[in-house]
Amino acid sequence: MEIDIQLLPCAPQPQLLAQRVVVVIDILRSTSVIIHAMSQGALEIIPVTTVEDAFKMAKAFPPGFILLGGERESKNIPGFDLGNSPREYVAKSVKGKKLILTTTNGTKAFHLVSSGKEILVGSFFNIGAVAQRCLELGRDLLIFPSGDEGNLSLEDTICGGMLIELITRRGGKPISLTDASECAKILYKKFEDNLLEALHLSHHGKELINRGFEEDLSYCARIDAIPLVPIFRDGVIRVPLTPSLSPEPACR
Ligand code: MLT
Repeated sequence: MEIDIQLLPCAPQPQLLAQRVVVVIDILRSTSVIIHAMSQGALEIIPVTTVEDAFKMAKAFPPGFILLGGERESKNIPGFDLGNSPREYVAKSVKGKKLILTTTNGTKAFHLVSSGKEILVGSFFNIGAVAQRCLELGRDLLIFPSGDEGNLSLEDTICGGMLIELITRRGGKPISLTDASECAKILYKKFEDNLLEALHLSHHGKELINRGFEEDLSYCARIDAIPLVPIFRDGVIRVPLTPSLSPEPACR
């Protein structure tokens, strides 16, 4: 099993993706929102790239069935029901609902990796459960931090490094790491005792603090608070009742 991490959020080669499990990470805040919403009873989440697509798609559903969520420049989008703070996505508003979500980086990332063999949604909330699922699947892995408007994101890379550390520590069979994976693991080790410090240091963390969302940083830094592993398949994110992708056969 090989673990790679794409340090910059550019579209990977489709041939490379076809055989890999992909883990999309956007700590601040899209994948944290998605995992939180699913834990509070949201039925499914459709990540879309533009605000226009979100409005267009919402028209296809009966009124009251769908919620629009997301942000631009971290702020609520006019006409949307919810912003992009995981603390808004509670049962009272999302239980039994379908959500359409559009965010600056995170929802785009899902579309960049849509040809992956299996696409998992990861954050600190579910890191242990994601590591476990990756080990069960036993396939080569591409960790895909959503980044910060095309740039490297400190908090997503550190979360990727933590996932690498957990998988290599728990995994029974040999695991090879690319140089990028080694870098992410070293970075995680630097901050493992104070993840929140890294979130405060990061560019997007600072932006969120300036925009009044400081509380989201500590909220999104909670490790293993939600042991669910949503998957993105055919354009929709759901929590599978039973995992449907079979693990890699022991011998080929
Ligand atoms: C994103 O997808 O870029 C983020 O979730 C942005 C944010 O929450 O401010």
